Amino acid sequence: MKFRSRLIVNLNNLKHNFEQIKKLASNSNILFMVKADGYGHGMIPVARYACTELKVKEFGCATIQEALSLREELNDLSFDVYVFSDIQLELHENADIYLKKRIIPVISNVSELEYILHTPEFRNFPICLKYNTGMNRLGLNVAEIDKVIALLKANNRLSIHHLISHFANASYSMKSDEHNQSQIKKFEEIKKKFIDAGINLERTSQANSGSIEQKNGLVTDTHIRPGLMMYGPSSLNDDVKTEGFFQGKLVSKLETYILRTFEVTKGTPVGYNSTPCPEDGVIAILAIGYGDGFSNRYSGVRLYHNGYEGFLIGRVSMDMAHVFFPKEAIGHIKAHEVFTIWGEGGTDIRQFSKETKTIPYELFCSLLPRIPRVYRLD
Ligand SMILES: Cc1ncc(COP(=O)(O)O)c(C=O)c1O
Repeated sequence: MKFRSRLIVNLNNLKHNFEQIKKLASNSNILFMVKADGYGHGMIPVARYACTELKVKEFGCATIQEALSLREELNDLSFDVYVFSDIQLELHENADIYLKKRIIPVISNVSELEYILHTPEFRNFPICLKYNTGMNRLGLNVAEIDKVIALLKANNRLSIHHLISHFANASYSMKSDEHNQSQIKKFEEIKKKFIDAGINLERTSQANSGSIEQKNGLVTDTHIRPGLMMYGPSSLNDDVKTEGFFQGKLVSKLETYILRTFEVTKGTPVGYNSTPCPEDGVIAILAIGYGDGFSNRYSGVRLYHNGYEGFLIGRVSMDMAHVFFPKEAIGHIKAHEVFTIWGEGGTDIRQFSKETKTIPYELFCSLLPRIPRVYRLD
């Protein structure tokens, strides 16, 4: 059996992106975001490669389940792992998982901090605090900083393992966006408050892909937290592209194959809801559909094969999708050929996301388990 639709994950490109990031932020350590199954690329193989080959020793997950599977599947390797959003500390049975597996919950409110400080088993456990400097999602309130300092001192915890914040607008200009500048300033003030109060900050980080790409908002921190850029795409908006320094290589290539082709004339109805062909041409039926995470919203996107441009026509089915090519392509689009959707030889990922009104993050994370991830080192 062959994998017909598959996501080829080129680990050499991951290495290229990592090396680029190291150049952009030569004094920073990397906490690699591998949440959502490594942005859809397969968290375990990607993190294994990053840890063994790239010497990345810190990983970021979204949920306790993700972090646990990282620990269990990579139990031969040593690294730090953080849970950023769904930490579930209110379920006290999770304490054991955090403690025994040394998974670090990112604390974003005072009651979570109190729980850690007042539970004797966490006495020597690393404390990681996340501050809301303007993202307005999760994060400790800056107004409560004195309370946090008092709590830490009262419990004789004079060192924070990692102090974190997160940029909301890093895909905008870091230099001229006022919100970005205000977040940088607020985080500096927070750090100073802790230091002035005699609390040691072992690690600090705020930068995600957009700010790393612009080399802005990272220098005073020990760490950066790249996600998307590790997988290749830029996260910058088109109008700030010129402020970016990152030349990433796309790690993934989404391939399927052509089940069947047939010639059509203008008006020939195709698939569910009988979408009419715009002119004479040829249809290629692809072996991929929304059952693979290839969304019906992608209808209309331009796709390429053997040098011909076509577009996804009509409604995507659960297991199939149809591409219309103009009549010049007749005889050049054949059944059983491999068809590249995005990646080398296919549609550029940013073009794909623009035309489908999505973002590369979402394209990657949408792919379902029916698409096997195949790892290459070429
Ligand atoms: C807290 C945190 N840090 C870093 C990142 C990485 O962001 P990006 O993928 O834009 O680099 C994320 C991603 O959502 C995040 O939630």
